[in-house]
Parts: sequence; structure tokens; C-alpha cells
Amino acid sequence: MAKHFSYVILGGGVAAGYAAREFANQGIKPGDLAIISKESVAPYERPALSKGYLFPQNAARLPGFHTCVGSGGERLSPEWYSDKGIELILSTEIVKADLASKTLTSSAGATFTYETLLIATGSSVIKLTDFGVQGAEANNILYLRDIDDADKLVAAMQAKKDGKAVVVGGGYIGLELSAALKINNFDVTMVYPEPWCMPRLFTAGLAAFYEGYYANKGINIVKGTVAVGFDADANGDVTAVKLKNGNVLEADIVIVGVGGRPLTGLFKGQVEEEKGGIKTDAFFATSVPGVYAIGDVAAFPLKLYNEMRRVEHVDHARKSAEQAVKAIKAKESGESVSEYDYLPYFYSRSFDISWQFYGDNVGENVLFGDNDPTAATPKFGTYWVKDGKVVGVFLEGGSAEENQAIAKVARAQPPVADVEALKKEGLDFAAKI
Ligand code: FDA
Ligand code: NAD
Repeated sequence: MAKHFSYVILGGGVAAGYAAREFANQGIKPGDLAIISKESVAPYERPALSKGYLFPQNAARLPGFHTCVGSGGERLSPEWYSDKGIELILSTEIVKADLASKTLTSSAGATFTYETLLIATGSSVIKLTDFGVQGAEANNILYLRDIDDADKLVAAMQAKKDGKAVVVGGGYIGLELSAALKINNFDVTMVYPEPWCMPRLFTAGLAAFYEGYYANKGINIVKGTVAVGFDADANGDVTAVKLKNGNVLEADIVIVGVGGRPLTGLFKGQVEEEKGGIKTDAFFATSVPGVYAIGDVAAFPLKLYNEMRRVEHVDHARKSAEQAVKAIKAKESGESVSEYDYLPYFYSRSFDISWQFYGDNVGENVLFGDNDPTAATPKFGTYWVKDGKVVGVFLEGGSAEENQAIAKVARAQPPVADVEALKKEGLDFAAKI
């Protein structure tokens, strides 16, 4: 017989944890809410996996980073869920979702029914085997999405101590994992096809700092080419990465970070999609009544820019979850909540450096400050100016106050008459807004 809940959150990641907390804040009865997750642990702050989890000393481990500690809130331990009467249905992969009959079916054949569904399935990694790259199934070619992947990586780092690592991809995973492998004493080479790292966000000027900083840490960077094949030894362990430019890199471990894909497959043909995700309104309601989508999978109206967006970052996962639950509960009592009015916020940390970005990286970019990679305490950034207004700001090495100031600028979109003057003024411009 199917197990029935008023509310089911499908997925047990960041959005799920923050949604559960909001349900508890709003008031639910024991037995009303379930989280169904294929992971074996309660929701946690995923960003820790590419950072503290990989530290050579005092590494972060659960229960230390269950949601909602990442934003300074209470840590929702498994006991918290049981105290609140929220059922955590773990190690349970849903393989079929029938939105018409409001029924979910697990790989073990269990069925669950609901009145309201929150889709929070997040993203999966794109694998090199997806493109049929030769030899890509060798041992120690690793990806990082969940805690099982992180444990495999930790085990591989122990087995191949002080070895050679090749990191394929120059995005978030590429940059954060290269640093993690370096601090674990690996000889690290990064390989990516673009002319500079993190081209989704970084300008050439920003990337020049990070590439220089990484090079000074002893990381080799190979740009403008891709991995086209791998060699393995008799045990099936990877030994080398063959590049399209003809070079071959020795490798004991390969980390691949070539992007993610929102996990929407279960709902294909049942719900409207957009931008590769599930289309929602400003309350994260989908085209199917009673079904909401939050976090990485949601394509939602970004009010500030008047367009539909999907955002694959933790701040939005948290805030979209809270917005959806508030909207669900308000609707039940005949009330309403304001539309989601999100200011995009991304960040990253590696070694001793960290940056924050707010807003939109479109238009002309204006580099300010000193982006010398050898600076003792680097502080520099970039404004993006579109139609005479600042629409996005990036800052490396900002204090809490300075980061608040750049967030304010990205929200306020102040006019800029003279781009040269803005460059000279640098961070002082933000401090005045
Ligand atoms: P999330 O991926 O967190 O959760 C999805 C959940 O659904 C998982 O538990 C999954 O197992 C489950 N699931 C999927 N399909 C299922 C099914 N069929 N049945 C059952 N369960 C299913 N962002 C940022 O802003 N700053 C940062 O520093 C980082 N760092 C970072 C590091 C690493 C290693 C990763 C992988 C990602 C980041 N991110 C990040 C991105 C951020 O973590 C991401 O945007 C959020 O986790 C998205 O939250 P969701 O809840 O949408 O998905
Ligand atoms: P990404 O999109 O940031 O980077 C993908 C990179 O892959 C590209 O920049 C490119 O350099 C590279 N690439 C593409 N095809 C390639 C190929 N064939 N060979 C070599 N390189 C290739 O994706 P990611 O770094 O894999 O991150 C996955 C997900 O995790 C994303 O959703 C990301 O937002 C999230 N994440 C976020 C953070 C953060 O916000 N700090 C940290 C880690 C992960």
C-alpha cells in the first residue's frame, strides 16, 4: 500500500533541508511531511564537499554540516527531523513519478502519494562516458556531486598519496578541487578548453589573477584543449590522460568537473520546462497544480532582470525553498506572499582566497583594484555596466562590510556616467551607495 503524506519533498539536498525548516517554522503536524532522498544521510550543505570535507587536517564530517548551518542557522540533525515528526525516507531512489495520480515509485517498488510535491532533485554531473571518451571508465576517474563521491575521492587520495592528479574542467569544481588536491600534496595539472578559467563568470582580467595565483601554488594549467582518452594499468587504474593537442599527462587520480545537468527526467512530458529546468512562477509553482520545483531544477522568473533563469548555486537553493513553502502555507490559509525577487549571489573559496559575486555579469566590465597574483592580501574586483548602470559586482578578498556594499550596488543598479572614473574609484564607489 502507498504511504501517504500531505507534503513530499523529492530530493534530500540543500533545498530540501531549508524547505523542511520552513515547514517546521510555519507549523506542520507530525506525519504531514516526508523527504525522499536517494542519499543515505539527512540533507547537508553540499558546498562543504569541495572544501572542508577534503582538508588534510580537521576535515569537516557529518553531522557537522547538516543544513541549515551554512547560512548560520540551526543544524538539522536526523533527531531534529524525528522530533518534528518529519519522515526522512533515505537511500530511496524514486524511479517513476506520476503527477496525474500524485504517486511516486521507488526502485524497490515502494509507492508514496502526496497532496503537494516539492521537486528538489538538484543536478547530476555530466560524465566523460556520456560522450564516449575512450577509457573514461577507468578506476580513479572521479566526479563530485554527493557525499559518496566525496568519500571515494578521500579514499583515492589516501591510496595514491603524494601522487599526480589531473583535473579536467576549469569551472567551479575544477578550481576548488585543484586547490583541494594541492593542499593534499598532489602534483596537480588542470586542463580546460577555454582561453581562461571559469569563463561563465570570470573576465580575462579576473581569470589572470586566479591562474597566476594557482600557478604560484605549483598547479600546472593546460588551456585550449580537452581530454580525449585515458590509459589504465592491469588493475584498471587510470595512469594517463591523453589530450587532444597530442600531449599525454601522467595521472594517479583524475577529477572531472565539466558541468551539471538538472535532474528533471522523471517529469518529462508531465510538466512545462524551460531553460533545461522545470518552469515555475514567482512562487515556484509549476504548470501542474500542487507541484512545486525548487533549487537547481527550477527555471523561475528573475524579477530584477525580467527574464526566466535557472540558478545552480546554494543561496538560491535555500531561498527558493523558503519562498515555495511560505507560498504553499499562505495559499492554504487564503493569504499570499510577495513574488520572489532574487538578487543572484555566487561565491567560491580555495586556498586562502575567496570571492563573492552579486547581480548579472553582462555588459562592459570594469576591473578595479590590484589583481597582481603575488599580492600579500589580494583585493580587486569587477563592475559590469549595462545601459549606463552597474548591474553586477565581483570582489575578491572583501570584508563582510565590503561584500554587503557590493550586494547593495548590484541591487540598486546605480548609474555610471564615466567608466574610467568608476575604475579609478574602485571599491569606494560601492561604499558610497
Ligand atoms: P542538491 O543537489 O543539493 O540535492 C538534490 C537531492 O536530490 C540529492 O540529495 C539527490 O540525491 C536527490 N535526488 C535526485 N534525484 C532523486 C531521485 N530520483 N530520488 C531520490 N532522490 C533524488 N554553490 C554555491 O553557491 N557555493 C558553493 O561553494 C558551492 N559548492 C558546491 C560544491 C559541490 C561539490 C557541488 C556539487 C555543488 C556546489 N554548489 C555551490 C552548488 C550547490 O550545492 C547547489 O546549487 C545546491 O546543492 C542545489 O540544491 P538542490 O537542493 O537543488 O540540489
Ligand atoms: P561548470 O559549468 O562551472 O564548469 C564546467 C567547465 O567544464 C567549463 O568551464 C569548462 O572549462 C569545462 N569543460 C567543458 N567541457 C570540457 C571538456 N570536454 N574537457 C575539459 N573541460 C571541459 O561546472 P562544474 O565545475 O562541473 O560544477 C558542477 C555544478 O556544481 C555546477 O552547477 C556548479 O554551479 C556547482 N558548483 C558550484 C560551486 C560554487 O558555486 N562555488 C562549487 C562547486 C560546484
